[in-house]
Order: sequence, then structure tokens, then C-alpha cells
Amino acid sequence: MDNFIWPHKDLLDVDDLTPDQLLHLLNTAEQFQEVNSRAVKKVPTLRGKGVVLFFAENSTRTKTSFDIAGKRLSADTFSLAKSGSSLNKGESLKDTALTLEAMSPDIIVIRHSSSGAAAFLAERLDCSIINAGDGWHAHPTQALLDSYTLRRFWRDQGQEMRGKTLLIVGDVAHSRVARSNIKLLNIMGVKVRLFAPRTLLPRGVDTWPVEVFDNLEKAVSGVDAVMCLRLQLERQAAGLLPNISEYASRFCINKRLMSLAAPGAPLLHPGPMNRGVEVASDMADSANSLVLDQVNAGVAVRMAILFLFGTRRDTIQPA
Ligand code: CP
Repeated sequence: MDNFIWPHKDLLDVDDLTPDQLLHLLNTAEQFQEVNSRAVKKVPTLRGKGVVLFFAENSTRTKTSFDIAGKRLSADTFSLAKSGSSLNKGESLKDTALTLEAMSPDIIVIRHSSSGAAAFLAERLDCSIINAGDGWHAHPTQALLDSYTLRRFWRDQGQEMRGKTLLIVGDVAHSRVARSNIKLLNIMGVKVRLFAPRTLLPRGVDTWPVEVFDNLEKAVSGVDAVMCLRLQLERQAAGLLPNISEYASRFCINKRLMSLAAPGAPLLHPGPMNRGVEVASDMADSANSLVLDQVNAGVAVRMAILFLFGTRRDTIQPA
């Protein structure tokens, strides 16, 4: 492992990082994937470091994998949810964060419903801030684990990621996963197609580096991978969709639609999935599905993130 100087205090979105830094992060995650395959999945790398998991929005995958990642690196991890915290007594985000920082953590991982919440803390706190999803804005660690998963998938087949085409389909308008993925996939040299019902396409999408389709069959034809997005009902204004069953009947990714993609094209979904709505259950469980590979990759990628941001002032090796 070379001595790569990690210059960043915070991870707010993928375009904070240069292409070299992104590749270094993904390569570091490969090293931690090896640690995760050992009988004893623990290294002393972050012994003595504190990581606060401040999740003011629900999460299964991101929160659990950051917690496991921290523990496998021997960091002390502490969890704070909105329910059970003084946010529910009216304390401001700023005061909650200053209170957490007064306990001297090295990293705060934050998920929040407001776009910009992570940047707000990054400007005010000295410890590292890792964005674990802020409103519709960004979910950089999800995009990183998605690229990690795709890179491994294609590498196992002797293929390069650069030059592939991927379709993102579903509720693009409300998706921080789509926004971060589009940025990162472009950096990785993947051509991105988008398909969404017109009411679920974001304003200004014509300026994004994607090809937007208005026909799902045409959008999926010949693509090398398909990424479904969750229908984010909790973020949608009323009236964007006629009803869920009509959405499912027209836009649910099933085996027939996947048969139009390139042979063997994988299916990704960031989770949590609405089975039978955005993805057919048999497709989600099929051999083409990388959904659980994404979850598995999440631990290694988040170990790499905690390592790089947690040791930016130190001179130690990952494992
Ligand atoms: N993909 C994702 O962020 O999942 P969670 O909401 O379960 O963390």
C-alpha cells in the first residue's frame, strides 16, 4: 500500500474527490474486502478513534454497515437516532452536532432529511463529516459501493467498466442515490440512461450528463446494467402518480424487460426494495441480481471511507 496523502476532512458528495482519489478509495475497499473474508474480521487500524452514527432518518443498510465497518476497524462507534435524541425536544441540528463534537469523536456520519445538512455541519465542526444521505441531494457512499460492485462484476468477466451503459429507472426526481451515481458513473466512464415517468423526472434534467428516454423498452434495450430506484413515497407531493398498481404495471422491472438488456446484464437496487412495484420479486431474487452484493460491498467501502478520513492526519497502514 503506497502512502497516499488523503487531503479531505469531509465526504459530502462524490465530486469532492478527484478521479485518482476515487480509484484509491475503491482500491482500499478491495483490501478491506479481503479482511472481511478472514475468519477473524477485525484489524486494529482505528483503535482509539470514535465514530458517531447520527441518523436522523431511517436506515438499515447504511447505518448497520457503517457500524460494522467501524467495529471491524476497532473504532468505538456510537449511535444516535432522531427518536430518543433531543432533536425531538426541539434542539437544533447545530446544537446537537456541537454537543456531539464536544465528546471528541473523530468522525460523524450523518443522515438527514434536509439537503445540505452534512455541508452545514462540515462548515461548523472540526471532526470529519461523512454524508450518509441528505434529502434529495447526495448519497456518496451508496454511489461508491455501487461502482465498487459493478467494477468487480465486470472485472470478474474480464471486462472494463469504462464504456459500459447503465440505465437508471424509477423515481429519479426524489433520488439522492441517482444524483450521486450519475456523477460517479460519468467519472468512471459509464454512459448513463435515465427513464422515469414524466412527473418523476427532476427539473433541469436536460442539463445532466445522461440520455433521457420516454419509452422504457427503448431505454433498457442493449444496456449493460439496470439500476432500479425506490419509489420514495415519503418525499413525494400528492398527485405525482395515478396509483401504485398502475405504476407497477407500467414500470416495474421484470424478466421480460431485463431480457431486452445485454445478455447477463445485472440488476442493481440500493434498497430498500418495494417488491412488485419498482422491481419484480423473481427478478430481485434472480442470478442477475446484485442487490446483496451491493450490501456486502457496503461494509468494505465504508471501512475504506472510515480508514481514509479517520487517519488523514496519521501515518498508519489499513490492515
Ligand atoms: N440504500 C440505503 O441507503 O439504504 P438504507 O436506507 O437502508 O440505509
